[in-house]
Amino acid sequence: MQETVLITGGSSGIGMELAGVFAKRGYNLVLVARNVDRLGAVRDALTAAYGIVVTVLPLDLAMPGAPEALVDALREQGVVVDVFVNNAGIGMYGSFIDADPEKLRAMVRTNVMVPTMLARMIGAQMADRGRGKVLNVASLAGFMPGPWMAGYYATKAHVLSMSEALSVELAPHGVTVTALCPGPTATPFMKSSGMERSKLVAGRKLYSAKKVAEHGYRALMRGKRVAIPGVRAKAIAFGIRFLPRSWVARLVSRAQGPR
Ligand SMILES: NC(=O)c1ccc[n+]([C@@H]2O[C@H](COP(=O)([O-])OP(=O)(O)OC[C@H]3O[C@@H](n4cnc5c(N)ncnc54)[C@H](OP(=O)(O)O)[C@@H]3O)[C@@H](O)[C@H]2O)c1
Repeated sequence: MQETVLITGGSSGIGMELAGVFAKRGYNLVLVARNVDRLGAVRDALTAAYGIVVTVLPLDLAMPGAPEALVDALREQGVVVDVFVNNAGIGMYGSFIDADPEKLRAMVRTNVMVPTMLARMIGAQMADRGRGKVLNVASLAGFMPGPWMAGYYATKAHVLSMSEALSVELAPHGVTVTALCPGPTATPFMKSSGMERSKLVAGRKLYSAKKVAEHGYRALMRGKRVAIPGVRAKAIAFGIRFLPRSWVARLVSRAQGPR
């Protein structure tokens, strides 16, 4: 029987590329995002190319009660999630004390509350069935403090820490949990987060979202705990373990400050 993959944020960037990677291998998909037109375009393209079933669920996950509403909708439609890709996320670049409080709240809800509650509910369903795979999209940012994106880096530290813990806790239930930790990747996130203003990415060639998705898929299938695409990102995640966190914060500030 064909397996089903639930992907939050499956309409763009890394999530959309992951949808393509799973579709190519014959999985059916459930894609969640806010923009109905983009969801429809991804569904039409993947259905036509691979003949799979793609269900779209337009939903603003940052709204209170949205994770529960998503799980209810899946139950009503009789969808059993074999693979869960916890990917939807937003970023905010700039001075923390000048950040728009509403945007900050939406970011914490989308990047922390939503993946936590969905992992809780869908993880429990998988554990009951004794099988399942979860891919949590964290970030290289999760390994370090990140001045100029302080809130965002902290949200990704939450996702990384939770994933590593759950990979141990859920293993006896037959559920694998993988944290995907990409460095700066060429997606609409660069513009929407304001990160394109940062020295870190301005004028640099960024990693491709397709490569990130393929790396994430392979790591998930192998049941790896943490997946870091690219030699440079791997070297950074490894190297900073040997530096005091205060140095790392200052180095990131210098690397990532405004142009
Ligand atoms: N790009 C990078 O450099 C990078 C690096 C490391 C990690 N990441 C992480 O990778 C993940 C995907 O980001 P991306 O770079 O692919 O960015 P993206 O192209 O902007 O995609 C974000 C996806 O999340 C959805 N989304 C955002 N807010 C949502 C909400 N409130 N409710 C439902 N869906 C929502 C978006 O769709 P709608 O706008 O239609 O809702 C879109 O499908 C994020 O968790 C991000 O933190 C990105």
